[in-house]
Formats: sequence, structure tokens, C-alpha cells
Amino acid sequence: MALIEIRNLSKSFDENHVLREVNIDVEKGSTVVILGKSGMGKSVLLKIIVGLIRPDSGSVRIDDREVAGMRSKELNELRRTMGYLFQGAALYDSMSVRENLAFPLVRQEKLNEEELEERVLDQLRLVGLQDAIDKMPSELSGGMKKRIGLARALIANPQIMLYDEPTTGLDPITSREISTLIKNLQARYQPTSIAVTHDMQCARIIADTAAILHDGTLDQQGTIEVLERSQDDTVRSFFATQ
Ligand SMILES: Nc1ncnc2c1ncn2[C@@H]1O[C@H](COP(=O)(O)OP(=O)(O)O)[C@@H](O)[C@H]1O
Ligand SMILES: [Mg+2]
Repeated sequence: MALIEIRNLSKSFDENHVLREVNIDVEKGSTVVILGKSGMGKSVLLKIIVGLIRPDSGSVRIDDREVAGMRSKELNELRRTMGYLFQGAALYDSMSVRENLAFPLVRQEKLNEEELEERVLDQLRLVGLQDAIDKMPSELSGGMKKRIGLARALIANPQIMLYDEPTTGLDPITSREISTLIKNLQARYQPTSIAVTHDMQCARIIADTAAILHDGTLDQQGTIEVLERSQDDTVRSFFATQ
């Protein structure tokens, strides 16, 4: 069964029809990548999934519960089971790396100081940055910030992970490193995930299945290999510009 099931989802802003009857299934523990050029509605889609934007019609079901019908209390509970790596993945600038990583844990689990320190260190080891524990975000490079952002997003073992352009603004080498790290962390934590990106290299590394969002529509969810062989005009034109 799909843990995330999106059906006939539509959203317009006045005359701007951003999403038209979009359907997506994400199987438990798998990663779906939504590819699409800038302005195609990828961020709007993620905001609808977390209940920040209401769709005009259609449904988003998570674990068989409708997000659009949730009250704010339920939405908050749902969001606590989610991890996000959003565009510009802001770390809290006034907090050290240690405090940034501890933040999601303190909200959710009763841990003593030692347990907390242990979890933070374990997580930093996973992203290869245990030496950065006492640093402030301003002392980190862009790639390091992304790593810490990833580490923080996953530290509380979210049931669902959402990534908005996780490699945007990074050079190709750092971008590949981050994609590989996402792949490894996904394998360890196995959250059910949706990543939106226009970065094909990233998609090839992290996707179990993918689909292309173009002019508000999205069909042909399949493996990247199958998509790349597709004869569909939209799909072909997307790959032609990569
Ligand atoms: N809150 C909003 N109000 C009005 N228009 C919006 C809003 N959010 C996004 N849009 C419009 O929706 C379209 C898709 O935006 P977005 O999802 O940010 O694209 P992407 O993430 O694929 O680059 C754009 O035309 C954008 O201007
Ligand atoms: Mg966006």
C-alpha cells in the first residue's frame, strides 16, 4: 500500500493553473523524485502535502488519513512525524551545530544529557562532520550546512521525508556528495520520501521512482531508466534540456 497517496490534486492561483489533477503514489520506505523546471509547482506540491497550502480539489492521504481535512492539532502531530529539507535549508544561525541537531530530538523524546550528546554525535558521524559539533552555522561552508541540515532533518527518525531541491546552489561535485549522502541516510532510516528537484544527477542517485511535473500535469511515474526511454513528448523535452 502507498503510504502517501495523492489523487487528482489541483491548485490554481487566480488564472495560474499550477497543478492539474496530479496523482502520485509513494510506497512505504521508498523515494519518489518529482522532476520539473523552475516555476512548475514543485514547492507548491510539497506545501500542500504538509498542509501549508490548501488544494482547490483532490486529496492527499498519508497513512490513509486526509491531510486537507485535518485540524491544526492533527496537522501539527503529522508534521512532527515528518522531516524536511527545504530550499535554502536554514539552520538556526544563533545555535551551534550541537544545538541545531538536538532541537528535533528535545521536542520528541525524553533523553538525558548524555543520551542526547550520543545521538547528536552519532548523527554527525554519519554525515562525516563530528568535528563541527561546536561550530556555529556561519563558520560552515554551503556543503557542510547542507550536511548538517540533512543530519538534523533525519535525526528524529521521521516517518516521512520531504526534500525541496536538496542540491540547489551547490557545485556539481558537492551536489553529487549530498545526493549520495541522502541515498545512504535513506537506506539507514528508510523514511517514505518525496524529493522535488531539477537536478537529474541527484534524481539518478536517490530515486526509486520518478515523474515529471510539466504544465501542471504529472504522469508516467516509473524508474528513471524507464522515463529516459519514454516516447512521451513532455518527458522527452525535459530530458532534452538536461
Ligand atoms: N502563495 C502563492 N501565491 C500565488 N502564486 C504562487 C504562490 N506560490 C507559488 N505561486 C506560483 O505558483 C507557481 C509554481 O511555484 P513553485 O511551486 O514555487 O515552483 P517550483 O518550486 O517548481 O520552482 C509559480 O508560478 C509561482 O509564482
Ligand atoms: Mg521550488
